[in-house]
Amino acid sequence: MSVTILAIESSCDETSAAVCCDGTILSNFIANQTIHAQYGGVVPELASRAHMQNIVPVVDAALKNANKSLNEINAIAFTQAPGLLGSLLVGTQFAKSLALALEKPLIAVHHMQAHVLANLIGQVKPTFPFLCLTVSGGHTQIVLAHNPLHLEVLGETMDDAAGEAFDKTAKLLGLPYPGGPLIDQYAQLGNPNAFKFAEPQVPLLNFSFSGLKTSVLYFLQKQKPEFINAHLNDLCASIQATIIHILLQKLQLAAQQTGISQVCIAGGVSANKGLRAAFINMGKANGWETFIPPFEYCTDNAGMIAITAYYKFKAGQFADLSISPSARAEW
Ligand code: KG4
Ligand code: ZN
Repeated sequence: MSVTILAIESSCDETSAAVCCDGTILSNFIANQTIHAQYGGVVPELASRAHMQNIVPVVDAALKNANKSLNEINAIAFTQAPGLLGSLLVGTQFAKSLALALEKPLIAVHHMQAHVLANLIGQVKPTFPFLCLTVSGGHTQIVLAHNPLHLEVLGETMDDAAGEAFDKTAKLLGLPYPGGPLIDQYAQLGNPNAFKFAEPQVPLLNFSFSGLKTSVLYFLQKQKPEFINAHLNDLCASIQATIIHILLQKLQLAAQQTGISQVCIAGGVSANKGLRAAFINMGKANGWETFIPPFEYCTDNAGMIAITAYYKFKAGQFADLSISPSARAEW
């Protein structure tokens, strides 16, 4: 029997719906919320309201793009955790209502598992077991994927996530939210060795980024605005190089410790051009086979929820209609 799944993602500020048939993504529609830029960060209540407005047209567009009707769908999947609770509630309630009305099974998906399994979308996939460095706005983790449904977190951030390190240092430089993609853009024109910033040392496979943020803050406080403007490209390149070095050093350690040479990156920060290039180079130097999800599956999207739901469907892992979302990250 062929399996067609409609998936919904609404954990933060993107409303997304996707349709997947037998593990192939047929559509992945994403509505970005631009309203948050003027506030310098995501405003939870505004995000929930925007999800309410977007969800029906977004689901409609995903079905149309996939050329599927609701009666061809075998299951409804949604992001259950982690995320902003008000945002998660919109997607959860919508998915539950649809499952109830259509009398179809419901599948609850963990957002961080989905970021990792985004690497199973597309033609070239890692084989199990593989390592994944998941770098997003809310999380930074090294995960050992034993199989699609058994992921083990080997290390994670003790404070800020890598995406936060990008966004918060961008804010210190006077760049608008979200600053990560802008740092990426300016860094391409700058010298990554122009400035040196602190690299906090933390044990094992864990990460820390708050010391880097403080080091950038103290450095910038001593500079005149004209200096910052004149050296923006070099500052962005140096900050980005520090974040990449912190991330890849630990990934290399994880590969050495586990002996695993199938290595992936995932999450919004894996869209970063500098990280992608450095990761591929590190893979070549260490004899790894490296994988990065297609660009549209790096930042938040329902395609990754759909692919995860496909594996859960095959394993018979369905959710009860009494399920509620959780803001917390526990697996
Ligand atoms: O995975 P994601 O879309 O949402 C969360 O689950 O958090 O990640 C968003 C994060 C933001 O911090 C954003 O600045 C960062 O990913 N990001 C980037 C780039 N594109 C997105 N950071 C650096 N360079 C990029 N090109
Ligand atoms: Zn995410």
